[in-house]
Amino acid sequence: MQVTGRQSSSKVKLRVPGTKKGQDIKTAGARNEERDKIYMEDKIIAAAIEYARDLFAGNSDGHDFEHTMRVYRNAMAIAETEECDRRIVALAALLHDVDDHKLFDTTDNANARAFLNGQGTDPDSTERIIDAVNSVSFSKNRDKRPDTIEGCIVQDADRLDALGAIGIARTFSYGGRHGRKLSENILHFHEKLLLLKDMMNTGAAVRLAEERHGFMLDFLREWEREIG
Ligand code: NI
Repeated sequence: MQVTGRQSSSKVKLRVPGTKKGQDIKTAGARNEERDKIYMEDKIIAAAIEYARDLFAGNSDGHDFEHTMRVYRNAMAIAETEECDRRIVALAALLHDVDDHKLFDTTDNANARAFLNGQGTDPDSTERIIDAVNSVSFSKNRDKRPDTIEGCIVQDADRLDALGAIGIARTFSYGGRHGRKLSENILHFHEKLLLLKDMMNTGAAVRLAEERHGFMLDFLREWEREIG
């Protein structure tokens, strides 16, 4: 879809939340592809992608492989705007859910550690990655800003994936699996999702969150209008 340049007034201007003005979905996707190519040249990052793909195979809830890749891509986009160690960010994003207690019965980040040890990662990098992974959890870090920029970025990247169109889709998908009525999901927006915008750490995430937040408000307004 063409969204840039001069358009006749009869055409609807569509801007996709999460993209810059003048960018359409395809352009944002192409940017992701380009970025993927660069980082995939790093063998450990490529291996982490395959590790997450295997580990989440068959899982189709909100913490599946697609979520991991969206968080990874959000994280790398934010990382480009910050002084940080991008490799730590990439690996923490890719491993952020591999010890999620809802899915795996591990302690002390055993899956992430086993993967990193298997790749021969040095102990200092391993600890930095694990530290960033541990700053992601919403419940454990509600009011706490991570100590490192890498932790801040991965936390923002994960929270961004709970916002906007994806956030709405994930909320209803989760609700459906847990037997919630459609209307019962609306509470989740007020209890959690609408609070996330003010909890971002980095400037890039604040901007993306504001767009996605606005989209959710539009959705809630339309919901109210339709149910009267
Ligand atoms: Ni996550």
